[in-house]
Amino acid sequence: MNDSSGGVALLDLEPATSDFREQVVAGLSASPRTLPSKFFYDERGAELFQQICELPEYYITRTEHEILREHGPEMAESVGANAELVGFGTGAGVKTRMLLEHLDNPIAYVPVDISKERLVESAMALRLQMPELEILPVCADYLQEMRLPVPSRKPDHIAVYFPGSTIGNLEPHVALGFLKRVCQLCGPDGGLIIGVDLQKARHVIEAAYNDKAGVTAEFNFNLLVRANRELGADFVLPCWKHRAVYSEQEGRIEMHLVSQSEQAVHVGDHVFVFRAGEHIISEFSYKHTIQGFAALAASAGFRLSRTWTDPQQLFAVLHFVVPV
Ligand code: TRP
Repeated sequence: MNDSSGGVALLDLEPATSDFREQVVAGLSASPRTLPSKFFYDERGAELFQQICELPEYYITRTEHEILREHGPEMAESVGANAELVGFGTGAGVKTRMLLEHLDNPIAYVPVDISKERLVESAMALRLQMPELEILPVCADYLQEMRLPVPSRKPDHIAVYFPGSTIGNLEPHVALGFLKRVCQLCGPDGGLIIGVDLQKARHVIEAAYNDKAGVTAEFNFNLLVRANRELGADFVLPCWKHRAVYSEQEGRIEMHLVSQSEQAVHVGDHVFVFRAGEHIISEFSYKHTIQGFAALAASAGFRLSRTWTDPQQLFAVLHFVVPV
């Protein structure tokens, strides 16, 4: 469906409420139990995530910005002139702007994001700043198969931008499938600029997902709030606790919602009984090494071309090309 919001034509492929219901029921029926993390980002969730990005413990956004400020011009040079930039999960668009402003004659920008309000707002703001640039926003889960809109001018090549270490929220086999599709989308002249959060001391990672102000906990609870509101579920919030634990073996931090007592939760006709202490996994966030990630991307068809990191090696922005 095409919808015109404030002068920016939006391709709306947002997942339906029926998808949310199906995935919640399937996830809560599974073992271990899970909730679908892509539904974090409704309007309130997007707002809370924005707050997470500014937390003192959440080094990720700050560090990625620092790398972009320092190396944005080199990244733009790696992307090359006359590119169509496709952004996946670009959110408020701050990082994309830091890249776009250095690009030589970008032909079009196609941001793909699941949070509609944030997508439209950021597209409209960018339109004011770069009136010459064709902007073609798509509201969708970037994992779903989709036909992207075609710009009115033909680019020399496609560059994909995937910031924020969102790739870390995908389990390696899912990340591999996604990277393969990105590789096809890029074609032989294209490239990928991707943000990857790096493995580091456990206490640094755990603090980033267990902030003192409790914003991350509220973000995690928002999934339950959303299930209550949109699906008529009856999660009682005070009976749940947020927990984030890093597994060195898996190289991932796991976000849990822990049941504080024995309780039953209803979602439509379904009843789910939880033991005290039983948890639901709401999201994984994998932390990579540059080498490990380059190997994963190589099995998807990419070759690592350039690497940018911060002095402490907390985070990396990587440029991949498709060898011919
Ligand atoms: N992409 C973010 C990350 O992995 C998402 C995130 C941050 C998150 N904090 C969270 C997801 C807490 C669930 C719970 O860093």
